[in-house]
Amino acid sequence: MNRALVTDDVGRAVEVLASGGLVAIPTETVYGLAARADDVDAVARVYRVKRRPFDHPLIVHVASLADAERVAVFDDRSRALAARFWPGPLTLLLPRRATVPDVVTGARETVAVRIPDHLVTLAVLRQFPAGVVAPSANRFGKVSPTSAAHVVADLGDDVDLVLDGGPCALGVESTIVDCTVTPPMILRPGGVTETALRETIGDVSSTVSGPSRAPGMLASHYAPRCRVLLAASRGEAEAMAAAESAAGSTCRIIDLTDNPEAYARDLYDLLRRADTDQVAVVVAVMPSDSGLGAAVRDRLTKAAYRPSNDGSRFSR
Ligand code: TXA
Ligand code: MG
Repeated sequence: MNRALVTDDVGRAVEVLASGGLVAIPTETVYGLAARADDVDAVARVYRVKRRPFDHPLIVHVASLADAERVAVFDDRSRALAARFWPGPLTLLLPRRATVPDVVTGARETVAVRIPDHLVTLAVLRQFPAGVVAPSANRFGKVSPTSAAHVVADLGDDVDLVLDGGPCALGVESTIVDCTVTPPMILRPGGVTETALRETIGDVSSTVSGPSRAPGMLASHYAPRCRVLLAASRGEAEAMAAAESAAGSTCRIIDLTDNPEAYARDLYDLLRRADTDQVAVVVAVMPSDSGLGAAVRDRLTKAAYRPSNDGSRFSR
């Protein structure tokens, strides 16, 4: 790996971002591909590097609620969520301020915003009151990165710098909550659970896994090269793996169902390792819906998606 690309120097990361460059930044969820939110050319380059369509808008990352209020319009509900969960793995979809460039929001009337819970990245963000955009630092539709090495393997020299803040503690993306509807709607399950959201603001609704209307919430996503099959139990996984092996496919079982936190933290690394090891088929045992299990189920369903296999057996 190109070592010159990787640094733990916050000052260098700030310099590169300030001059319009792209820096991969660590967060508690996954690594993000960051650019200044107020630099239209830099933001456009983020889409190009990711090979992501412009109608899949980006999350603005900020260091404080005061900065968030300059990007988005809050009400009592969204302020309550921010007070309880920020910094943390919660992204709020809110009415945008006119100052946010169209390229960030896909010209929508809403903007997605969050304060990530990572000391190194918060030190960077404090220097950018207009925020930085940061989609996951992988090519569009592929497995998200949870370490600096993952980013380098995916993006190489297409990124100007990788700020190494160690492996991501949580391992799956933030929960996205649309606060422009009543009740607020979970668009993507993640690090903050539905139960925790309800405790804070009462009623919330959630989209089911699989095909969905929200932009960027595609049926297929987080996809490794290997084929991913879903099993409801360890026993079922073993039977499926035996059948695949008998048919001549190299096969591996992923099963951390006894520890949803470890499942979330290690999932993307396990999928990447399967590809590096040239495994043809991964059989993943689905965790229960509780805690981080809902986010893991969502990512596995999308990683497994094939038009002929819509994963609806496992929809929530
Ligand atoms: O944990 C995370 O959220 C990570 C880290 C880096 O912070 N970021 C992340 O970004 O997962 P990304 O771009 O991979 O996913 C953001 C999702 C996309 O599906 C996008 O379409 C949706 O949020 N999104 C962003 N702005 C939106 C908007 N204004 N309206 C609807 N959806 C929006
Ligand atoms: Mg992503």
